[in-house]
Amino acid sequence: MSTQLEFRTASQLRLPIDIRSDTVTRPSPGMRAAMAAAEVGDDVYGDDPTVNRLQAHVAERFGFEAALFFASGTQSNLAALMSHCGRGEEYLVGQEAHTYSYEGGGAAVLGSIQPQPLQNEPDGGISIQRIASAIKPDDIHFAPTRLLALENTIGGRVLSPDYLRQVTQFAHSRGLRTHLDGARIFNAIVKLKMDEGAAVAGFDSVSVCLSKGLGAPAGSVLLGSREIIDRARRWRKALGGGMRQAGVLAAAGLYALEHHVPKLALDHANAEYLAQGLRDLGLHVEPPQTNLVYVAIPADKTADLKSYLGSQGILATIAPRTRLATHLDVPRDKIEAVLSAFRDYPRWD
Ligand SMILES: Cc1ncc(COP(=O)(O)O)c(C=O)c1O
Repeated sequence: MSTQLEFRTASQLRLPIDIRSDTVTRPSPGMRAAMAAAEVGDDVYGDDPTVNRLQAHVAERFGFEAALFFASGTQSNLAALMSHCGRGEEYLVGQEAHTYSYEGGGAAVLGSIQPQPLQNEPDGGISIQRIASAIKPDDIHFAPTRLLALENTIGGRVLSPDYLRQVTQFAHSRGLRTHLDGARIFNAIVKLKMDEGAAVAGFDSVSVCLSKGLGAPAGSVLLGSREIIDRARRWRKALGGGMRQAGVLAAAGLYALEHHVPKLALDHANAEYLAQGLRDLGLHVEPPQTNLVYVAIPADKTADLKSYLGSQGILATIAPRTRLATHLDVPRDKIEAVLSAFRDYPRWD
């Protein structure tokens, strides 16, 4: 007996318009069908053919020796940091970076790694001068500096390839390894029309998320040398991240990589459109570079605006510096609906 599975699209489900993040996407019917059809095995034994296919595909696409599938970007970043740095060692990281500010302090708490946060420049990079002066001398008073961790895109900003080349060369010249939190690296790749290998050149490891703009329900892939990935596999197990029939998730990732990468350009165009529409209402909007729009909202209106938008079926996190995200589940007509709701908000003055 065969079972006919039918999946409905996000629009058919009549869900609220959710612009809190690009992580909120629901798997599309095509993605769900790919998940349902996935061949699986026990991935802790290395037996899941779909996970193995995903890892081989991403490693080849980015030009790395090896790859490892993780449940989340947080876990993938943490395993990478723990694979590069030992107990009592240090990593240099931007004050605004997700690994430092939004991952529960995992490097310090679980990895015994000391973070050395450094101020990000307005373009999202960290100046080479600042990095140079933060590298500790070989002296028993200091935690040995082992790693530089960067993020691209960072807060929706794309780091320039020239900067990345210079900063990774500099880090290597001072004996540091380099890790990239590439949760949204495909947004940078699509924006700059680069190929994957060029976008991550100079990094010893890269964490790529499938669950952000690419629309998979979960999963990140860590890229690195065979040696780094072997170490990361041990840490993944210790962190509770050894999944069994994970092929159902890997199938979603493969589907996303095949079908959703070019669609990021639409998210970027929608972000521009949303930004211009909000500017036309007299709001101050930072020029978006990819799919994240930052708009200034008067502090005394944040709670009321959030609840008004909620009453109009729009989920948004409203703060003095509000971040709105465009993604697969907010096509242009929904962006129009968001703009109408902002326009109709009755208490702007
Ligand atoms: C830049 C960045 N890195 C890493 C992560 C962590 O990913 P996850 O939520 O899968 O743990 C996020 C999550 O939003 C992110 O924005």
